[in-house]
Amino acid sequence: MGDSIDEAPLGGRVALVTGGARGIGLAVSRYLHGLGASVVIADSGVSVTGAEPDPSVAQAVAAELGARVTAFTSDLGSPDAAAEAVELAVSCYGAIDLVVNNAAILRDAFIFKAKPADWGLVLQTNLSAPFYVLAAATPHLREQAKRGRAPGRIVNITSSAGLYGNFGQAAYASAKAGLVGLTRVVAMDMARASVTCNAVAPFAATRVTGMIQPANAQQAQYKERALRIEPRFVAELVGFLCGPHAHDVTGQVLGVRGREVFLFSQQRPRAEFVAPERNWSTPEFAAMFNQHFRNDLTDLTTDLEAFNTEPVG
Ligand SMILES: NC(=O)c1ccc[n+]([C@@H]2O[C@H](COP(=O)([O-])OP(=O)(O)OC[C@H]3O[C@@H](n4cnc5c(N)ncnc54)[C@H](O)[C@@H]3O)[C@@H](O)[C@H]2O)c1
Repeated sequence: MGDSIDEAPLGGRVALVTGGARGIGLAVSRYLHGLGASVVIADSGVSVTGAEPDPSVAQAVAAELGARVTAFTSDLGSPDAAAEAVELAVSCYGAIDLVVNNAAILRDAFIFKAKPADWGLVLQTNLSAPFYVLAAATPHLREQAKRGRAPGRIVNITSSAGLYGNFGQAAYASAKAGLVGLTRVVAMDMARASVTCNAVAPFAATRVTGMIQPANAQQAQYKERALRIEPRFVAELVGFLCGPHAHDVTGQVLGVRGREVFLFSQQRPRAEFVAPERNWSTPEFAAMFNQHFRNDLTDLTTDLEAFNTEPVG
């Protein structure tokens, strides 16, 4: 495969980038294309909240990038549309190698005001659509590996909101946390085919960052800093994960914020106690809890607070 060609390390590889026509996805589409990959840009051109689809957004990017790029503009929130996007890659370019699940929407509301319909649409777009895409793409990735083609790569774009939480983001954070679970299982299920699957939590200036309505001075500072972070750094990390040097990196949760690249820890027990007797009272439980866990409890720092640092660009 083209993996060995230095000038075009992804030459001959076929990528599907969801939400690939704007923001971070656009940077990823451009970058993978620049490394030689053929790219299907699957982007319905919706607003940040998932409304007003506009197929011309992806079509314009495909026209601008020229050869080796095709636009797919249906909403990916249905199994049929996701399968069509995958089949388009296979019919246009003969295979599918690199899947970047990046499309997402936001419908924020405090939990005590949240609407089930908004929850449903966010989960459908941000978690079910990546599942539909992977359910359609992974049979091809397995078949291709059996035929001796270089193993595929999957990158799921998650969010620090799914790892830390943030005010009013019940649906978004739940979907993004779910995507981390999906990443782990897909990494396991596809390991025998040597297909890797990793999650990336990005930080970058996009129309979404531009929409942040600061509720206080700290959030205003976060927004001002975030608006200085170029999306191309995310693309470079995704490019690494899709390239030859990351063939054995799988099941990881990474982050990228300008030139800062993070490896996130994953949820594992960090303290333990064993009940002293079968029937123990609540005060006994409390004593053990305080002795073994109290100093290790995780605080309620939001992701905006945790990453409100000066960007290194
Ligand atoms: N910008 C950040 O700092 C940041 C932080 C954390 C996570 N993220 C994640 O990065 C990814 C990209 O974010 P962005 O800021 O570039 O967003 P964006 O809104 O600029 O781009 C998202 C793209 O996805 C497309 N899309 C949405 N729903 C779709 C659907 N159902 N079918 C097809 N296309 C659809 C939209 O049309 C849009 O072009 C998202 O997964 C987001 O959650 C971004």
